[in-house]
Amino acid sequence: MRSYSIALIPGDGIGIDVIKEGKKVLDTLCSLDGGIKMDYRTFDWGCEYYLKTGRMMSETGLDELKDVDSIYLGAVGYPGVPDHVSLWGLLLPIRRKFEQYINLRPVKLLRGIQSPLAGRTAEHLDFTVIRENNEGEYSSIGGRMYEGTEMDLAIQSAVFTKHGVERVLRYAYSMANKIGKPKRLTAATKSNGINHTMPFWDEYVRKINLEYPEVETEITHIDALAAFFVTKPDVFDVVVASNLFGDILTDLGAAIVGGMGIAPSANINPDRKFPSMFEPVHGSAPDIAGKGIANPTAAIWCAGMMLEHLGEHALANILMEALQQVLEEGRMVTPDLGGTATTVQFGEEVCGKIKRLG
Ligand code: NAI
Ligand code: MG
Repeated sequence: MRSYSIALIPGDGIGIDVIKEGKKVLDTLCSLDGGIKMDYRTFDWGCEYYLKTGRMMSETGLDELKDVDSIYLGAVGYPGVPDHVSLWGLLLPIRRKFEQYINLRPVKLLRGIQSPLAGRTAEHLDFTVIRENNEGEYSSIGGRMYEGTEMDLAIQSAVFTKHGVERVLRYAYSMANKIGKPKRLTAATKSNGINHTMPFWDEYVRKINLEYPEVETEITHIDALAAFFVTKPDVFDVVVASNLFGDILTDLGAAIVGGMGIAPSANINPDRKFPSMFEPVHGSAPDIAGKGIANPTAAIWCAGMMLEHLGEHALANILMEALQQVLEEGRMVTPDLGGTATTVQFGEEVCGKIKRLG
């Protein structure tokens, strides 16, 4: 029996609804396979937990998570708790403590989804953004002074280290080296305006490129790169970016392949010293929370990425095939894609499809 321990952190808002459907899909796959067992442990951390306890996760939370095989997370953050409190109280500590320095975000048009970019099909929209996930612009170094006076000021420093930059670039290059003909890598920069950290980043891009001479490299300013995501998305295979640039680029990436309801992400510790974490790109969507209409596609796709990471490639393939067949058939379409299906109806349709495929 292959056995995996999975920490479920549904979190806030629609996170709870979409993780429920993702878990149903995993359960359906496991019941078909027979040789696999998932041990789930659910954690009720998030903004409600914060309002009760003053903490986003339990004090020993990171210890409780450190030995699981994977973490499957919905979304955290909700009106009533400032976003920087919810982010720094749960998500960022997990990403950092567990050295999940790769944030992998596929920008891939699934079958059955129409891109808002006119004339663009799956053959034009199939690349991966690798976002640095542990340092960069999301540093907690800085401070606020003279609040409430005319001298009010805030300073925040970006942190780029040789260790942090080299490891994300090596990961990106090794991926670019495996896929694509020609092998291509695009690195996001802004070395014209940000004149210390970004030239540093570019210098290491050129250095790591020497280890992967077959990979053609473009170093592109982030503003132009954002425009190219819209005007020529077909030229990309692997895009690597700093923490902030990658964050912004991937919401745009999500938009061109069908929106926030679709886009998955994986926070990976490539060394497998710690668990990796799988979560949709979207947040808790307070505007539709509680209505039962969130699109669980992103969360279900994340479950597929988790299976891939666990080495369960056959099950991941069945999941992705079932998901795409449901999207293609268009019987169950959630409101974000123009239909009226509920989160539960969509999830159950995918489970039914898995049973027929399995
Ligand atoms: P959001 O992703 O929650 O929502 C943006 C828009 O996309 C909304 O109109 C929402 O209805 C729609 N949307 C998102 N996911 C959807 C889905 N699965 N199906 C259908 N429509 C969907 O981003 P927003 O509004 O900026 O953030 C809301 C809260 O979530 C904030 O507290 C924020 O800090 C948090 N957040 C958490 C993230 C995480 O846990 N990784 C990521 C992004 C935001
Ligand atoms: Mg984001």
